[in-house]
Amino acid sequence: MKKRWVLKSFVAAAVLTTSGLALAQSNTFKIGLILPMTGPFASTGKQIEAAARLYMAQNGDTVAGQKVELIVKDDTSAPDVTKRIAQELVVNDKVNVLAGFGLTPLALATAPIATQSKTPMVVMAAATSSITQASPYVIRTSFTLPQAAVTLGDWAPKNGLKKVVTLVADYGPGIDAEKYFKERFVLNGGQVPESLRVPMRNPDFAPFLQKVRDIKPDALYVFLPSGVGAALMKQFAERGLDKAGIKLIGTGDITDDDILNGMGDVALGVVTTQHYSASHNSAVNKKFVAAFEKANAGMRPNFMAVGGYDGMRVIYEAAKKTKGGSGDALLEAMKGQLFESPRGPMFIDAQTRDVVHNIYIRKVEKVNGELYNQEFDVIKDVKDPGKSK
Ligand code: DHB
Repeated sequence: MKKRWVLKSFVAAAVLTTSGLALAQSNTFKIGLILPMTGPFASTGKQIEAAARLYMAQNGDTVAGQKVELIVKDDTSAPDVTKRIAQELVVNDKVNVLAGFGLTPLALATAPIATQSKTPMVVMAAATSSITQASPYVIRTSFTLPQAAVTLGDWAPKNGLKKVVTLVADYGPGIDAEKYFKERFVLNGGQVPESLRVPMRNPDFAPFLQKVRDIKPDALYVFLPSGVGAALMKQFAERGLDKAGIKLIGTGDITDDDILNGMGDVALGVVTTQHYSASHNSAVNKKFVAAFEKANAGMRPNFMAVGGYDGMRVIYEAAKKTKGGSGDALLEAMKGQLFESPRGPMFIDAQTRDVVHNIYIRKVEKVNGELYNQEFDVIKDVKDPGKSK
Protein backbone atom coordinates (compact mmCIF):
# COMPACT_ATOMS: atom_id res chain seq x y z
CA MET A 1 0.00 0.00 0.00
CA LYS A 2 2.67 2.40 1.13
CA LYS A 3 4.97 1.37 -1.68
CA ARG A 4 2.26 1.93 -4.26
CA TRP A 5 1.56 5.36 -2.84
CA VAL A 6 5.21 6.30 -2.95
CA LEU A 7 5.49 5.09 -6.52
CA LYS A 8 2.37 6.93 -7.53
CA SER A 9 3.53 10.19 -5.97
CA PHE A 10 6.91 9.77 -7.56
CA VAL A 11 5.41 9.40 -10.99
CA ALA A 12 3.01 12.26 -10.39
CA ALA A 13 5.84 14.50 -9.22
CA ALA A 14 7.97 13.59 -12.22
CA VAL A 15 5.14 14.33 -14.62
CA LEU A 16 4.35 17.64 -13.00
CA THR A 17 8.00 18.67 -12.80
CA THR A 18 8.72 17.85 -16.41
CA SER A 19 5.66 19.73 -17.49
CA GLY A 20 6.89 22.65 -15.35
CA LEU A 21 3.54 23.02 -13.69
CA ALA A 22 4.26 21.62 -10.26
CA LEU A 23 1.65 23.74 -8.63
CA ALA A 24 -0.90 23.92 -11.37
CA GLN A 25 -3.19 21.55 -9.56
CA SER A 26 -3.59 23.99 -6.70
CA ASN A 27 -5.34 27.22 -7.40
CA THR A 28 -4.34 28.95 -4.22
CA PHE A 29 -1.11 30.79 -3.62
CA LYS A 30 -0.45 30.60 0.11
CA ILE A 31 1.56 33.04 2.18
CA GLY A 32 2.29 31.95 5.75
CA LEU A 33 2.79 35.17 7.72
CA ILE A 34 4.31 34.48 11.16
CA LEU A 35 4.38 37.48 13.50
CA PRO A 36 4.42 38.42 17.19
CA MET A 37 0.75 39.43 17.55
CA THR A 38 0.76 39.29 21.38
CA GLY A 39 3.42 40.02 24.00
CA PRO A 40 6.02 42.81 24.19
CA PHE A 41 6.65 42.95 20.43
CA ALA A 42 3.00 42.88 19.31
CA SER A 43 3.30 46.34 17.71
CA THR A 44 5.60 44.81 15.08
CA GLY A 45 2.99 42.16 14.25
CA LYS A 46 0.15 44.68 14.18
CA GLN A 47 2.05 46.99 11.80
CA ILE A 48 3.13 44.23 9.40
CA GLU A 49 -0.24 42.50 9.27
CA ALA A 50 -1.97 45.83 8.56
CA ALA A 51 0.51 46.57 5.78
CA ALA A 52 0.13 43.12 4.20
CA ARG A 53 -3.66 43.47 4.20
CA LEU A 54 -3.40 46.95 2.71
CA TYR A 55 -1.18 45.63 -0.08
CA MET A 56 -3.75 42.94 -0.87
CA ALA A 57 -6.64 45.41 -0.74
CA GLN A 58 -4.81 47.63 -3.23
CA ASN A 59 -3.51 44.90 -5.54
CA GLY A 60 -6.22 42.28 -5.47
CA ASP A 61 -6.26 38.82 -4.01
CA THR A 62 -5.50 36.88 -7.16
CA VAL A 63 -2.15 36.49 -8.92
CA ALA A 64 -1.68 34.57 -12.15
CA GLY A 65 -5.19 33.21 -11.84
CA GLN A 66 -4.60 31.92 -8.32
CA LYS A 67 -6.32 33.09 -5.19
CA VAL A 68 -3.88 34.54 -2.68
CA GLU A 69 -4.44 33.21 0.81
CA LEU A 70 -2.75 35.03 3.69
CA ILE A 71 -2.41 32.78 6.74
CA VAL A 72 -1.48 34.90 9.77
CA LYS A 73 -0.07 33.13 12.84
CA ASP A 74 0.97 34.54 16.21
CA ASP A 75 4.32 33.24 17.46
CA THR A 76 4.20 35.33 20.69
CA SER A 77 7.87 36.17 19.89
CA ALA A 78 9.05 32.74 21.12
CA PRO A 79 11.55 31.12 18.69
CA ASP A 80 10.42 27.53 19.35
CA VAL A 81 6.85 28.56 18.55
CA THR A 82 7.92 30.30 15.32
CA LYS A 83 9.76 27.17 14.25
CA ARG A 84 6.83 24.86 15.04
CA ILE A 85 4.38 27.13 13.17
CA ALA A 86 6.72 27.32 10.17
CA GLN A 87 6.92 23.53 10.09
CA GLU A 88 3.12 23.22 10.19
CA LEU A 89 2.66 25.83 7.49
CA VAL A 90 5.09 24.03 5.20
CA VAL A 91 3.92 20.47 5.87
CA ASN A 92 0.18 20.85 6.44
CA ASP A 93 -0.77 24.03 4.60
CA LYS A 94 1.86 23.64 1.87
CA VAL A 95 2.49 27.37 1.78
CA ASN A 96 4.34 28.78 -1.22
CA VAL A 97 6.21 31.24 0.96
CA LEU A 98 6.97 31.90 4.63
CA ALA A 99 7.02 35.55 5.68
CA GLY A 100 7.12 37.92 8.67
CA PHE A 101 9.74 37.30 11.41
CA GLY A 102 9.48 40.10 13.95
CA LEU A 103 12.79 39.48 15.71
CA THR A 104 16.18 38.03 14.79
CA PRO A 105 15.93 34.87 16.96
CA LEU A 106 12.58 34.07 15.31
CA ALA A 107 14.08 34.33 11.81
CA LEU A 108 17.14 32.29 12.78
CA ALA A 109 14.96 29.53 14.29
CA THR A 110 13.02 29.23 11.01
CA ALA A 111 15.90 29.39 8.51
CA PRO A 112 16.65 25.61 8.64
CA ILE A 113 12.99 24.85 7.83
CA ALA A 114 13.19 27.12 4.77
CA THR A 115 16.36 25.35 3.64
CA GLN A 116 15.08 21.81 4.17
CA SER A 117 11.74 22.45 2.47
CA LYS A 118 13.13 24.81 -0.20
CA THR A 119 10.54 27.40 0.78
CA PRO A 120 11.35 31.08 0.15
CA MET A 121 11.37 32.98 3.45
CA VAL A 122 10.73 36.71 3.26
CA VAL A 123 12.10 38.51 6.31
CA MET A 124 9.99 41.64 6.79
CA ALA A 125 11.26 42.87 10.19
CA ALA A 126 14.34 41.17 11.65
CA ALA A 127 17.53 43.10 10.91
CA THR A 128 20.71 41.37 12.09
CA SER A 129 23.13 41.31 9.18
CA SER A 130 23.80 37.56 9.30
CA ILE A 131 20.17 36.42 8.82
CA THR A 132 20.48 36.21 5.03
CA GLN A 133 23.41 33.84 5.50
CA ALA A 134 21.37 31.48 7.68
CA SER A 135 19.58 30.05 4.61
CA PRO A 136 19.87 30.49 0.83
CA TYR A 137 16.05 30.79 0.84
CA VAL A 138 16.01 34.04 2.86
CA ILE A 139 15.07 37.26 1.08
CA ARG A 140 15.03 40.41 3.22
CA THR A 141 12.74 43.40 2.71
CA SER A 142 13.32 45.04 6.12
CA PHE A 143 16.78 46.57 6.63
CA THR A 144 20.04 45.82 8.42
CA LEU A 145 21.39 47.55 11.51
CA PRO A 146 24.89 48.05 10.05
CA GLN A 147 23.35 50.19 7.25
CA ALA A 148 22.04 52.71 9.79
CA ALA A 149 24.97 52.36 12.22
CA VAL A 150 27.79 53.25 9.81
CA THR A 151 25.82 56.22 8.50
CA LEU A 152 25.56 57.66 12.00
CA GLY A 153 29.23 56.78 12.65
CA ASP A 154 30.09 59.11 9.77
CA TRP A 155 27.65 61.86 10.71
CA ALA A 156 28.32 62.18 14.45
CA PRO A 157 31.98 63.28 14.50
CA LYS A 158 31.35 65.82 11.73
CA ASN A 159 28.65 67.33 13.89
CA GLY A 160 30.54 68.00 17.09
CA LEU A 161 29.98 64.64 18.80
CA LYS A 162 33.45 63.32 19.66
CA LYS A 163 32.81 61.26 22.80
CA VAL A 164 29.85 58.86 22.62
CA VAL A 165 28.65 56.08 24.94
CA THR A 166 26.74 53.25 23.22
CA LEU A 167 23.73 51.45 24.71
CA VAL A 168 22.13 48.54 22.86
CA ALA A 169 19.76 45.65 23.43
CA ASP A 170 21.93 42.61 24.11
CA TYR A 171 21.21 40.37 21.09
CA GLY A 172 21.94 40.16 17.34
CA PRO A 173 20.79 43.54 16.03
CA GLY A 174 22.12 45.34 19.12
CA ILE A 175 25.55 43.75 18.75
CA ASP A 176 25.57 44.76 15.05
CA ALA A 177 24.42 48.30 15.90
CA GLU A 178 27.17 48.65 18.50
CA LYS A 179 29.96 47.12 16.45
CA TYR A 180 29.36 48.96 13.18
CA PHE A 181 28.76 52.34 14.81
CA LYS A 182 31.82 52.05 17.01
CA GLU A 183 34.18 50.91 14.24
CA ARG A 184 33.16 53.73 11.91
CA PHE A 185 32.99 56.40 14.62
CA VAL A 186 36.45 55.55 15.99
CA LEU A 187 37.85 55.43 12.43
CA ASN A 188 36.55 58.99 12.07
CA GLY A 189 38.37 60.12 15.21
CA GLY A 190 35.57 59.56 17.74
CA GLN A 191 35.98 58.08 21.19
CA VAL A 192 33.74 55.46 22.84
CA PRO A 193 34.56 55.36 26.57
CA GLU A 194 31.85 52.80 27.41
CA SER A 195 29.59 50.31 25.62
CA LEU A 196 26.51 49.22 27.56
CA ARG A 197 24.20 46.30 26.77
CA VAL A 198 20.73 45.95 28.26
CA PRO A 199 18.47 42.86 28.24
CA MET A 200 16.30 42.48 25.14
CA ARG A 201 13.10 42.03 27.17
CA ASN A 202 11.82 44.51 29.78
CA PRO A 203 15.08 46.36 30.32
CA ASP A 204 15.49 48.60 33.36
CA PHE A 205 17.48 51.54 32.03
CA ALA A 206 18.06 53.27 35.40
CA PRO A 207 21.49 51.86 36.36
CA PHE A 208 22.76 52.25 32.80
CA LEU A 209 21.61 55.84 32.47
CA GLN A 210 23.21 56.70 35.80
CA LYS A 211 26.50 55.44 34.44
CA VAL A 212 26.09 57.54 31.29
CA ARG A 213 25.39 60.61 33.41
CA ASP A 214 28.59 60.05 35.36
CA ILE A 215 30.68 59.67 32.20
CA LYS A 216 29.01 62.76 30.66
CA PRO A 217 29.73 62.03 26.97
CA ASP A 218 28.72 64.39 24.15
CA ALA A 219 26.01 61.89 23.20
CA LEU A 220 24.42 58.57 24.02
CA TYR A 221 23.96 56.31 20.95
CA VAL A 222 21.11 53.81 21.30
CA PHE A 223 19.63 50.77 19.55
CA LEU A 224 16.51 49.18 21.01
CA PRO A 225 13.95 47.05 19.17
CA SER A 226 10.80 48.70 17.86
CA GLY A 227 8.37 49.70 20.62
CA VAL A 228 10.94 50.09 23.42
CA GLY A 229 12.27 53.58 22.59
CA ALA A 230 9.56 55.48 24.49
CA ALA A 231 10.59 54.01 27.87
CA LEU A 232 14.23 54.95 27.25
CA MET A 233 13.29 58.45 26.16
CA LYS A 234 11.22 59.01 29.30
CA GLN A 235 13.96 57.84 31.66
CA PHE A 236 16.61 59.79 29.75
CA ALA A 237 14.70 62.97 30.57
CA GLU A 238 13.69 61.93 34.12
CA ARG A 239 17.33 61.30 35.03
CA GLY A 240 18.27 64.72 33.68
CA LEU A 241 20.64 63.53 30.96
CA ASP A 242 19.24 66.07 28.51
CA LYS A 243 19.71 68.87 31.06
CA ALA A 244 23.28 67.68 31.60
CA GLY A 245 23.90 68.47 27.92
CA ILE A 246 24.05 64.86 26.71
CA LYS A 247 22.54 64.42 23.25
CA LEU A 248 20.57 61.34 22.30
CA ILE A 249 21.29 59.73 18.91
CA GLY A 250 20.64 56.27 17.53
CA THR A 251 19.25 54.07 14.84
CA GLY A 252 15.69 54.98 13.82
CA ASP A 253 14.31 52.10 15.88
CA ILE A 254 14.24 54.39 18.95
CA THR A 255 12.05 57.04 17.31
CA ASP A 256 9.71 54.50 15.80
CA ASP A 257 6.77 56.20 14.03
CA ASP A 258 4.33 53.89 15.82
CA ILE A 259 5.08 55.49 19.21
CA LEU A 260 6.99 58.68 18.37
CA ASN A 261 4.05 61.02 18.67
CA GLY A 262 3.35 59.79 22.20
CA MET A 263 6.88 60.51 23.42
CA GLY A 264 6.32 64.21 23.95
CA ASP A 265 8.74 67.09 23.55
CA VAL A 266 11.63 65.17 25.12
CA ALA A 267 12.07 63.51 21.71
CA LEU A 268 12.51 66.86 19.92
CA GLY A 269 15.90 67.18 18.23
CA VAL A 270 16.85 63.50 18.52
CA VAL A 271 18.94 62.59 15.46
CA THR A 272 18.66 59.08 14.04
CA THR A 273 19.56 57.24 10.84
CA GLN A 274 17.17 54.87 9.09
CA HIS A 275 15.58 53.87 5.80
CA TYR A 276 12.00 54.97 6.53
CA SER A 277 10.09 57.89 7.95
CA ALA A 278 6.32 58.31 7.69
CA SER A 279 7.10 61.89 6.65
CA HIS A 280 9.31 60.83 3.70
CA ASN A 281 8.53 63.33 1.01
CA SER A 282 7.40 61.38 -2.06
CA ALA A 283 4.11 60.83 -3.84
CA VAL A 284 4.36 57.05 -3.30
CA ASN A 285 4.83 57.50 0.45
CA LYS A 286 2.10 60.09 0.85
CA LYS A 287 -0.34 57.73 -0.82
CA PHE A 288 0.85 54.81 1.32
CA VAL A 289 0.57 56.71 4.61
CA ALA A 290 -2.88 58.09 3.80
CA ALA A 291 -4.23 54.66 2.79
CA PHE A 292 -2.64 52.94 5.80
CA GLU A 293 -4.06 55.49 8.25
CA LYS A 294 -7.46 55.32 6.63
CA ALA A 295 -7.59 51.52 6.83
CA ASN A 296 -6.32 51.40 10.43
CA ALA A 297 -8.21 54.04 12.44
CA GLY A 298 -5.46 56.65 12.07
CA MET A 299 -2.52 54.40 13.01
CA ARG A 300 0.70 55.77 11.52
CA PRO A 301 2.81 53.24 9.60
CA ASN A 302 6.35 52.67 10.87
CA PHE A 303 9.40 50.98 9.33
CA MET A 304 7.97 47.56 10.18
CA ALA A 305 4.86 48.28 8.11
CA VAL A 306 7.03 49.24 5.15
CA GLY A 307 9.03 46.00 5.43
CA GLY A 308 5.73 44.10 5.29
CA TYR A 309 4.27 46.14 2.43
CA ASP A 310 7.41 45.82 0.30
CA GLY A 311 7.67 42.14 1.20
CA MET A 312 4.20 41.58 -0.22
CA ARG A 313 5.22 43.44 -3.38
CA VAL A 314 8.25 41.17 -3.81
CA ILE A 315 6.07 38.07 -3.26
CA TYR A 316 3.30 39.21 -5.64
CA GLU A 317 5.71 40.10 -8.44
CA ALA A 318 7.55 36.79 -8.08
CA ALA A 319 4.22 34.92 -8.03
CA LYS A 320 3.17 36.72 -11.24
CA LYS A 321 6.45 36.00 -12.97
CA THR A 322 6.36 32.29 -12.11
CA LYS A 323 2.59 31.94 -12.61
CA GLY A 324 2.05 31.11 -8.97
CA GLY A 325 5.24 29.11 -8.54
CA SER A 326 7.09 27.87 -5.50
CA GLY A 327 10.52 26.71 -4.33
CA ASP A 328 13.60 27.69 -6.31
CA ALA A 329 11.69 29.27 -9.19
CA LEU A 330 9.78 31.57 -6.83
CA LEU A 331 12.99 32.40 -4.97
CA GLU A 332 14.83 33.31 -8.18
CA ALA A 333 11.98 35.61 -9.21
CA MET A 334 12.32 37.49 -5.91
CA LYS A 335 15.99 38.26 -6.50
CA GLY A 336 16.98 41.45 -8.27
CA GLN A 337 13.63 43.23 -7.93
CA LEU A 338 14.02 46.98 -8.16
CA PHE A 339 11.15 49.33 -7.40
CA GLU A 340 10.03 52.50 -5.69
CA SER A 341 8.96 51.75 -2.13
CA PRO A 342 7.35 54.24 0.27
CA ARG A 343 10.89 54.39 1.74
CA GLY A 344 12.39 55.50 -1.60
CA PRO A 345 14.16 53.37 -4.24
CA MET A 346 14.72 49.78 -3.14
CA PHE A 347 16.56 46.83 -4.60
CA ILE A 348 16.88 43.15 -3.65
CA ASP A 349 20.52 42.36 -4.37
CA ALA A 350 20.50 39.03 -6.23
CA GLN A 351 23.88 38.00 -4.78
CA THR A 352 23.19 38.68 -1.11
CA ARG A 353 19.35 38.46 -1.20
CA ASP A 354 19.46 41.51 1.04
CA VAL A 355 17.89 44.93 0.66
CA VAL A 356 19.79 47.90 -0.77
CA HIS A 357 18.18 51.26 -0.04
CA ASN A 358 18.79 54.87 1.00
CA ILE A 359 19.67 55.68 4.59
CA TYR A 360 18.34 59.05 5.72
CA ILE A 361 19.60 61.27 8.51
CA ARG A 362 16.60 62.61 10.39
CA LYS A 363 15.76 64.88 13.29
CA VAL A 364 12.60 64.73 15.39
CA GLU A 365 10.57 67.89 14.76
CA LYS A 366 7.03 69.03 15.29
CA VAL A 367 4.98 69.26 12.10
CA ASN A 368 1.40 70.51 12.43
CA GLY A 369 1.49 69.64 16.11
CA GLU A 370 2.76 66.07 15.61
CA LEU A 371 6.24 64.62 16.07
CA TYR A 372 7.96 63.26 12.96
CA ASN A 373 11.42 62.09 11.93
CA GLN A 374 12.23 64.84 9.43
CA GLU A 375 14.78 63.66 6.86
CA PHE A 376 17.50 66.27 6.20
CA ASP A 377 20.24 64.29 4.45
CA VAL A 378 20.54 61.02 2.55
CA ILE A 379 23.19 58.42 1.71
CA LYS A 380 21.99 56.67 -1.42
CA ASP A 381 21.83 52.95 -2.22
CA VAL A 382 23.43 51.62 0.96
CA LYS A 383 24.31 47.92 0.83
CA ASP A 384 24.61 45.98 4.06
CA PRO A 385 28.16 46.72 5.30
CA GLY A 386 28.01 43.37 7.11
CA LYS A 387 28.25 41.48 3.82
CA SER A 388 31.78 42.53 2.96
CA LYS A 389 33.28 41.13 6.19
C1 DHB B 1 14.97 43.61 15.32
C2 DHB B 1 13.78 43.89 15.93
C3 DHB B 1 13.32 45.19 15.98
O1 DHB B 1 12.16 45.50 16.57
C4 DHB B 1 14.05 46.22 15.41
O2 DHB B 1 13.58 47.47 15.48
C5 DHB B 1 15.25 45.94 14.80
C6 DHB B 1 15.71 44.63 14.75
C7 DHB B 1 15.47 42.22 15.30
O3 DHB B 1 15.22 41.47 16.25
O4 DHB B 1 16.16 41.85 14.34
